[in-house]
Amino acid sequence: MNGFYYDASDESATDTLGRVLADVLPPGTTIALRGTLGAGKTRLTQAIAEGAGVDRGDVISPTFVLAREYHGRRTLYHIDAYRLHDEDEFEELGPDEYFESDGITLVEWADRVAGCLPKQRVEIDIDITGPTSRRFTVTAVGDRYAAVVAQCEKRVRE
Ligand SMILES: Nc1ncnc2c1ncn2[C@@H]1O[C@H](COP(=O)(O)OP(=O)(O)OP(=O)(O)O)[C@@H](O)[C@H]1O
Ligand SMILES: [Mg+2]
Repeated sequence: MNGFYYDASDESATDTLGRVLADVLPPGTTIALRGTLGAGKTRLTQAIAEGAGVDRGDVISPTFVLAREYHGRRTLYHIDAYRLHDEDEFEELGPDEYFESDGITLVEWADRVAGCLPKQRVEIDIDITGPTSRRFTVTAVGDRYAAVVAQCEKRVRE
């Protein structure tokens, strides 16, 4: 597999993953977040934001806008595809502006707009493994992120 599993036993372990991702991922990375309601897509986004020097409390899912922006040491764009009807609606909102930016773009419910996502991306699947525990499966889709994803695995296990 072009990626790794990370078992977080609690939210502070999720924060560790977020910190590593915020440190290691290059500008222009899109992260596709997948997982059921309450899996932790927003919580992981908060962890990444905090790792990028953004106040965690600023991170709430966008509702009336396509993307929320957070500016810290890194710029983050936060998209949530949950309320969209289909990929056409998503495309009309102009997501490429974010995908082509120098920020890190996070997409919740990425599976709903899979056909619109950059071919080169990082995918993170989240499984609920217990009341406070989550399994994060981090995968490089395309060659471009294979090395950085491997670097994330190394860092997160230190
Ligand atoms: N280790 C953990 N990592 C992340 N979240 C956790 C963990 N343990 C418990 N949680 C809880 O799980 C919930 C995750 O909610 P969150 O809003 O992030 O889910 P979501 O995937 O964004 O859901 P939605 O599809 O509704 O947007 C939070 O209440 C969080 O406190
Ligand atoms: Mg959410």
